[in-house]
Amino acid sequence: MIVQKIKLKRKTDGKEVECTVEILDGKSLKKIVELEKNIVENLPSRDLFQDDTDDLILDFLGRRGLAYGVINEDNLIACSALYFPGEREENLGIDIGLEEDLQTVVHLETIMVHPDYRGNGLQKILAEILIKEAKNRGFKHVLATVSPKNTVSYTNFEKLGFKKITTKIKFGDKLRDIMYMKI
Ligand SMILES: CC(C)(COP(=O)(O)OP(=O)(O)OC[C@H]1O[C@@H](n2cnc3c(N)ncnc32)[C@H](O)[C@@H]1OP(=O)(O)O)[C@@H](O)C(=O)NCCC(=O)NCCS
Repeated sequence: MIVQKIKLKRKTDGKEVECTVEILDGKSLKKIVELEKNIVENLPSRDLFQDDTDDLILDFLGRRGLAYGVINEDNLIACSALYFPGEREENLGIDIGLEEDLQTVVHLETIMVHPDYRGNGLQKILAEILIKEAKNRGFKHVLATVSPKNTVSYTNFEKLGFKKITTKIKFGDKLRDIMYMKI
């Protein structure tokens, strides 16, 4: 389903290209995995980004979340998702003392933009759409993790109104700032 049309500047040729923001479903799994592979191969440091398992992506694609993608001519160029953790142990509300309110916690997850389309503010654009949707669904607390070394993403979270609450080891061995915003 198309949510919005946007024009983006492509880095490779400087051209403005028409794109659509769309809600993704299970059929997009392959494209998300391909984009993720590209993102991981282009990382300056493996520590900056935690890639998701197929199972977690399927959670975002409907089972326990909602994913939006940015599409240009059938190519997925960016993707971001909401995850509804409920009472599960990964609920970041537990890390910041929201044990009594876990059902109204939503995670902002999986923010990736293809290297050719960075600099268009897509992380912020997608986050704003997702946060609005989370609010409409009755969620009250948005949480996300970001590497303290990921300055682009950290700055975007600050611009969106997130505050760093604490820093913890997540995903086994990765240092992560826990970012929070009340909605
Ligand atoms: C983080 C990310 C989503 C931001 O993409 P974006 O929304 O296009 O970034 P912005 O539009 O806010 O970019 C702001 C500036 O930083 C630059 N920039 C964006 N991502 C960059 C990166 N990974 N490395 C270096 N510079 C980057 C942009 O070109 C832009 O510069 P400009 O102002 O001179 O044009 C993207 O870099 C990405 O997909 N990174 C890999 C995955 C990741 O780290 N996700 C976040 C996990 S918390």
